[in-house]
Amino acid sequence: MSDVDWQLLTDAATDAMRRAYAPYSGFPVGAAGLADDGRIVVGCNVENAAYGVGLCAECGLVSSLHAGGGGRLVAVVCVDGAGNVLMPCGRCRQLLWENGGATCQLATVGGVKQMRDVLPDAFGADDLGRR
Ligand code: THU
Repeated sequence: MSDVDWQLLTDAATDAMRRAYAPYSGFPVGAAGLADDGRIVVGCNVENAAYGVGLCAECGLVSSLHAGGGGRLVAVVCVDGAGNVLMPCGRCRQLLWENGGATCQLATVGGVKQMRDVLPDAFGADDLGRR
């Protein structure tokens, strides 16, 4: 989709990355998403002394999406500490799938793709309905 301002999204993700709380990994991450009503939602990773409790940047993004009024994600960018595109971890791909679906666009190391490309044959809400 050509009407996504990827530079604006990347800048928002980079800005959020700078507010990450990642004292344990030293690996700050920022995420920004464009919602279907035009708003931009962001998140950063927030770690914890109990390592497994840490939150990925995408968790914050999804929480912000809902807390700010809901809607669907149409485009997402995640960046690392250098501001370079970062692939969402597997768990976060599932989070993005739930909130953006198969056609949500994702900036990847191989260019813009759809969620269906990075999480093929995904499990989702439809699977629950079928059973
Ligand atoms: N991290 C994210 O925030 N998102 C991802 O998709 C990959 C990993 C965070 C979790 C942890 O705080 C740090 O990066 C190192 O794994």
